[in-house]
Amino acid sequence: MDDAARDLIDAAVNNQPQSTVTVLSSLLAVEDAIGYIPPEAVEAVATRMDATINDVWAVATFYPNFRFEPPTEHRIEVCWGPSCHVMGATAIIAAAQDALGLSDEGDTPDGRATLRYNTCLGACAHAPVMAIDHHLAGRITPNNARDRIAATLAAEAAH
Ligand code: FES
Repeated sequence: MDDAARDLIDAAVNNQPQSTVTVLSSLLAVEDAIGYIPPEAVEAVATRMDATINDVWAVATFYPNFRFEPPTEHRIEVCWGPSCHVMGATAIIAAAQDALGLSDEGDTPDGRATLRYNTCLGACAHAPVMAIDHHLAGRITPNNARDRIAATLAAEAAH
């Protein structure tokens, strides 16, 4: 890990604006800053909170949304909340898996994209909904999902 990344971690852990700072808030601050929780961040949080490394790992691993590997280039989220489920989310998930060569949530083997299921992307009226790199798209069809994912990966490959 380079000095710049360490500086980002230190700033995230030590400059939290809220009055109550906890192990969890510190981990969330690191995740916001660099997109994952490396071992150096666990050490920084332990130091800041006067906790043990094991205590910090226990909190970090309790929450399934923390990543412990650097993020991939693209984050693809498909909502499978109630509204989206009724409107066909299962087919959207299948299409996204197909486009990414995955059989479940996770990172593609080439490290270019991550597929995540989301319990509500906050746009239920436009169900079914997906988000690519935090850009929401509603009333998605399976073909549309496939095309959007292919276009995202192709745009990156063209650079
Ligand atoms: S349930 Fe899918 S956006 Fe809310």
